Amino acid sequence: MYTELYADPSIHGYKLIEKDPIKNPFSPGAGSPPPELVGRDPILEQARILLGRAKAKRPEKSMLLTGLRGVGKTVLLNEIERLARAEQYRTILVEALEDKPLGPLLAPYLRTLLFDLDRMAGAGDKAKRGLRVLRSFIGALKINMGDVSFGLDIDPQTGTADSGDLEIDLPSLFIAVAEAAEERKCAVAVLIDELQYFSAKELGALIMAMHRMQQLQLPLVLLGAGIISGTRLGIATGLVTSVLAATMTFVRNGRSAPNSAKIVLKRGMKNVSRNASTAQAMHARTMG
Ligand SMILES: Nc1ncnc2c1ncn2[C@@H]1O[C@H](COP(=O)(O)OP(=O)(O)OP(=O)(O)O)[C@@H](O)[C@H]1O
Ligand SMILES: [Mg+2]
Repeated sequence: MYTELYADPSIHGYKLIEKDPIKNPFSPGAGSPPPELVGRDPILEQARILLGRAKAKRPEKSMLLTGLRGVGKTVLLNEIERLARAEQYRTILVEALEDKPLGPLLAPYLRTLLFDLDRMAGAGDKAKRGLRVLRSFIGALKINMGDVSFGLDIDPQTGTADSGDLEIDLPSLFIAVAEAAEERKCAVAVLIDELQYFSAKELGALIMAMHRMQQLQLPLVLLGAGIISGTRLGIATGLVTSVLAATMTFVRNGRSAPNSAKIVLKRGMKNVSRNASTAQAMHARTMG
C-alpha cells in the first residue's frame, strides 16, 4: 500500500488514505515520466540557455545533474534530450553501466552519428576524418565492436586518439566529432546517465574533453546525471578545482520549491481542497 493525501471537508483538513500500490505514479530509478514534471522549470531553463549558447558557439559549461536516488535525475535528463532535439541538436543518450567502460559505451553511437554527418549534403571531409579518428580510438582501446563491421574502406587516422590513454584520446575524438558536426552546421548533445559508474580516469577524460570543447568553442555539449557530487568528482579525478568549476555546472536536484505542491494540486489531483495548508502539508509530508 502507499498513501495519498486527500482533503476531508468534515475535519477541515487533510487525511492520508491508503491506495493501491499498482497505481502509485512514483517509481524510483525507472526514469518513467511523471504525470506532472513539477518544480524543475529553473533547471530546464538553464539547460535551454546552455543548448542555445553552445549551438551559437559561445563558450558554455557542461551540466551535471546530481542528487539522491529517486530524486528525478533521469526524468530530467530525458526532458533535456527532448529540448535538445527541438533545438535541432543531434543527441546521444546513454546510460553508464557498472562494468562497461566509457569508450566501448560511446563508440557505437559516435560511429552512427559520424556516418549520418557524412551522408548529409555539404562540402568538406571532416566526417570522414572523424570516422578515421574513431577507428584509431577503437583500435587503441582494443574495443570490440562485435559483429558490426566498421566500414571496410576506413583506415585509422594514425597518431590521433590512439595513444591508449583515455585522457588524451577522448578529447581528440570529441574534437574530431565536434568539428565534423560544425562543418555540417550541426550541434551535438551527449547525455550520459548514471555517471557514478565511471572510473576516476574515465570521469577525468570526460572533463578534459569538455574543457577542450570550450576552449575551441566547438558545438558539442555534455549533459550528465548521477549520484555524484562536485566534491567527490574533484577528489576522484584529482583535477584542480578551477578546471572543474570552469568546465561543469553542478545542478543539485533536491526538494522542489514549496509552491510546486500547489501546482500538483491545481493540475493533477482530484477531490483535494486546493488551499495553502493542504499544499504546505503535502510538501512537508513528501519531503518536497
Ligand atoms: N519533478 C518531478 N515531479 C513529479 N514526479 C517526478 C519528478 N521527477 C521525477 N519524478 C518521479 O520520480 C520517480 C523517480 O524519478 P527518476 O527515475 O528520474 O529518479 P532518478 O533520480 O533518476 O533515480 P535514480 O537515482 O535511482 O536513477 C519517477 O517515478 C518519476 O516519474
Ligand atoms: Mg536515474
